[in-house]
Amino acid sequence: MPNNDLNFADKVEIAANNTKAPLNGLRVIRVFAPATVANVVCGFDVLGFAVNEPGDEVEMRLTETPGVVIKSISGDDGRLPLDAAKNTVSASVQHYLQHINRLDVGVEIKLHKKMPIGSGLGSSSASTVAGLFAINKLMGDLLSPKELVPFAMKGEELACGYGHADNVAPAILGGFVLVRSYDPLDVISLPTPAGMYAAIVYPEVDVPTKDARQMIRSKVLLKDAVTQWGNVAGLVSGLFMNDLDLIGRSMKDVLVEPTRSILIPGFEEMRTIAMENGAIGFGISGSGPSVFALAKDEETARKITKAQQQHLHKININSKAYVSSVNAQGPIVIE
Ligand code: HSE
Repeated sequence: MPNNDLNFADKVEIAANNTKAPLNGLRVIRVFAPATVANVVCGFDVLGFAVNEPGDEVEMRLTETPGVVIKSISGDDGRLPLDAAKNTVSASVQHYLQHINRLDVGVEIKLHKKMPIGSGLGSSSASTVAGLFAINKLMGDLLSPKELVPFAMKGEELACGYGHADNVAPAILGGFVLVRSYDPLDVISLPTPAGMYAAIVYPEVDVPTKDARQMIRSKVLLKDAVTQWGNVAGLVSGLFMNDLDLIGRSMKDVLVEPTRSILIPGFEEMRTIAMENGAIGFGISGSGPSVFALAKDEETARKITKAQQQHLHKININSKAYVSSVNAQGPIVIE
């Protein structure tokens, strides 16, 4: 596992003449950032992709009073902290302002949670990325999307104790993303096969990422490592070669899934349902409890989620389903 103590944001070099960056004239902005499926089964902490639905929205306003404030949060049932030091959105915006040497700027944030918390769909990542994209726009696109990644990782560190990038990098860049290395950070965009859909089902049980990370073994057998890196390489090759069969063969996880899947009701049955209904591959989304399947088209993806939800209903588990093509553009300004 990559070193947990690295201060990634400190590695971003800001050009010396950026110390008094001009605002771009905008004072209010509203941004949507997408949910993400991290790991993509075999790539624990190194692979992820973004979807068009769900996602989160952040409304940001520049004020005359220096400092970052969370004005309101909707859609979270009171679960997220309003304290600016503890909230992932405000904390990462604060880091960003510190690094561009603009602590004189005042920022008010309204966070609209439009997706379930603790679902394995990169909920904290979507909020954090929306906030960083918003402040970067307000500051005149001072940093490139890739340069925002380390600041978003700070938010993940706050949310779950470890600054993993496999949600935030695809949320910022869109598409499939490989985190080739954490130190130094090396983030690579991968191609998406045309027409590919994600079929996501969220069984409504809570699995906090922090807990789901603690249950993973920290040592692995060499034979399992060999299986795993063969699959990661196979998946990446499959994306480049547009080879759905190779992608499917590679969506196997011998390291993490055997432990984590225990927390997900109906997991094996949902796998069978997905594969019998034409899925390319199936597995846990991020740290769960959401599961996802990749499908060759929308119709197949809808068939899969419908049958999986029927199964969950039978075993008395409420669920939500999202059927989406792979998000190509990352965050967008919506107002
Ligand atoms: N790679 C992270 C994990 C993703 O599996 O813990 C969390 O969404």
